Amino acid sequence: FHVNTDASEVEKGAYPYYMLKEIDEQPGVMRSLIEHYVSDDGTIVIDQSLLDSMKQADRLYIVAAGTSYHAGLVGKELFERLTQTPTEVHVASEFGYNPPLLSKKPFFIFLTQSGETADSRQVLSQINEWGYESLTITNVENSTLSREATFTLLLYAGPEIAVASTKAYTAQIALEAILAKKFGEIKQVAIAKSFDVAHELTMVANGMQELVDEKGQYEQIAANALATTRNAFYIGRAIDYDVAQEAALKLKEVSYVQTEGFASGELKHGTIALIEEGTPVIAIITEEKTAKHTRSNTQEVLARGANVINIASRYLSEDGDQIILPDVHPLLTPLLSIVPCQLLAYYTSLQRGYDVDKPRNLAKSVTVE
Ligand code: G6P
Repeated sequence: FHVNTDASEVEKGAYPYYMLKEIDEQPGVMRSLIEHYVSDDGTIVIDQSLLDSMKQADRLYIVAAGTSYHAGLVGKELFERLTQTPTEVHVASEFGYNPPLLSKKPFFIFLTQSGETADSRQVLSQINEWGYESLTITNVENSTLSREATFTLLLYAGPEIAVASTKAYTAQIALEAILAKKFGEIKQVAIAKSFDVAHELTMVANGMQELVDEKGQYEQIAANALATTRNAFYIGRAIDYDVAQEAALKLKEVSYVQTEGFASGELKHGTIALIEEGTPVIAIITEEKTAKHTRSNTQEVLARGANVINIASRYLSEDGDQIILPDVHPLLTPLLSIVPCQLLAYYTSLQRGYDVDKPRNLAKSVTVE
């Protein structure tokens, strides 16, 4: 049994599809999160009892499904680096049957756009039975996962109608950054203290705006590289690998192109066998410490005929890179690098003649296990 959000009350306006509207809304979603969570003097406003509860924890467990799981992968980077708290990320449907060995004082974070995903609900019931406290980060007030968790933080992203999630992903990452900043400050972690999250997210909003204003170029790249391909790969390392996995999900779910997100360094251990003349390999390059290595992986696939497309942060960009990202704080690059990937997925779907808002076999909210 699948539930689809009722689209009738949300207007598309001048947009042909909700997915494009929701991609375009992302700069506004960043600003709305700043308005809701950061006061004028820069203080982050988050329920003290939530922070007290998190402070007791020796380990965070993020549980989610689909795109929200991918937002959790980036969350792990944010929580570990800004709060020095070990963090694990789990696919809800796996956790249910194969729970990890828990630490002495676990704290659970459920990421869910809809707040209704059955797999995540099942884990929450389980941990409620065990007596652990939890936080749900969701876009839907009073949703089941919100009601059943100890605490809730809302995404304020506005209704997301397109089945393929876009603005909820970036909203989840931005809110994780805000929470990690506050929590890290309380834990006296130096990098959290100097992380001006409102300023950095404002830079992100500006950068997103630049990206969504350049739609023509993504339409062109999709037409040249993706419109007729059988398969495709997104590659990256570390935080860019997290984004590669979400980018691959976006492309496969709306265009039906078989796409995988791979850790660049792992390609040579098997998957490189799939590279043929013209296979699109899209590399995400936003971190100084990994850039050189990912670039050498693109050379390896280039030598086997791949059609390489580089998405690189401006300060790391080189001649020939097709997509250049405005520079932002290194922990927040996923908020920018995903945007061209969302647009590539959108245009590829249209060019292949599909209804991008309603991909076959998928539902917005999956309420069965
Ligand atoms: C479905 C949707 C995905 C979504 C996933 C998790 O599969 O099609 O877009 O990421 O559920 O949904 P949630 O509402 O829990 O984030």
